[in-house]
Amino acid sequence: MNPTKPCLTEENITVFQRKLHEWYERHHRVLPWREVKDPYLIWISEVILQQTRVEQALSYYRNFIVNFPTVEHLAAADENSVLKCWQGLGYYSRARNLHASAKVIVEKFHGHFPKSYDEVKSLKGIGDYTAAAICSFAYDLPYAVLDGNVYRFLSRYFAMETPIDTMQGRKQFMETADMLLDRKKAALHNQAMMEMGAIQCTILSPDCDSCPLKHNCMAFKYDMVELLPIKSKKTKVRNRYFYYFFIKYQNGFFLRKREKADVWRNLYEFPLLEYENKLPIEEVLAQEESVKYFLNAGVIKQISEEKKHVLSHQHIYSRCVYVEIQEKNEYLTKHYDYVKIEESDKYPVSRLVEIFLNEYLEI
Ligand code: ADE
Repeated sequence: MNPTKPCLTEENITVFQRKLHEWYERHHRVLPWREVKDPYLIWISEVILQQTRVEQALSYYRNFIVNFPTVEHLAAADENSVLKCWQGLGYYSRARNLHASAKVIVEKFHGHFPKSYDEVKSLKGIGDYTAAAICSFAYDLPYAVLDGNVYRFLSRYFAMETPIDTMQGRKQFMETADMLLDRKKAALHNQAMMEMGAIQCTILSPDCDSCPLKHNCMAFKYDMVELLPIKSKKTKVRNRYFYYFFIKYQNGFFLRKREKADVWRNLYEFPLLEYENKLPIEEVLAQEESVKYFLNAGVIKQISEEKKHVLSHQHIYSRCVYVEIQEKNEYLTKHYDYVKIEESDKYPVSRLVEIFLNEYLEI
């Protein structure tokens, strides 16, 4: 059994839409971004939701819109304050893109959020999914959304076995989502498709028994629910080994902005030695750079255990050496910011650096 593309009659589609919408009206979660039609607020919520679960997204969303209530506020902000609001969400290029696109909206669109799909999609960081979400939720334009929840729901409902991470898969699922879309109620329909995947047709324990669509669900019928959706490849993971130095001098320590096109770009971090392989900590401490620049006749107060930090394509194994120095050296002063402890919360840092920092600031 491998239907590549579902065959749907107009009547099937209408029944599907009716059942789905009725289910949504009864069961959906009340969420602040569903109560508004302002495309700016919807944009912010969608980008945050690409990074995290709804429960955590709520506090980030509220904090973000308190700090940047309109696109003008965001455009006028300095990058550090935007990154600070994003701290802990990861994938910081999303925050940088929000900031860059806010400036474009103010400068090129005179502060008015663009109204057409193509214009919305022309903004940095906005792809097919986000453009469809903004245009349907804010303007009720007939663009079907396809996110992880919708892929899962569709793959099961139609028992579609085409891998979702292929060109062919994306095309088939998009065509299917588009056929099912209720063009007169695009906002409601898209929210309902996503909510179905998020709370009913879930990854690990889909609640098929109570599902109003189970009678026509192919995966339910053929006992394939747990096998779907199918992905073709496993993501390749790169291992990296970070050895940080928390260098305390009087009432402060040293940080530097990561400026390269790499993970955590534009966030701040402690002096770092990075290796492709794991090294015994004695070997790290004996490196010329460690001795000359970081240890600098200081006293090692503490060496952390290894922490594993998991990102989508990278596993970062890190340890941090806490050193106290009596004198600043030229190298540190030249290449790093000396940060007073009471000023440290002005610096956006990765979740990993934040964990070390919180530990040390308590000592
Ligand atoms: N995930 C992505 N967009 C969402 C939305 N608008 N509501 C709930 N979860 C979502």
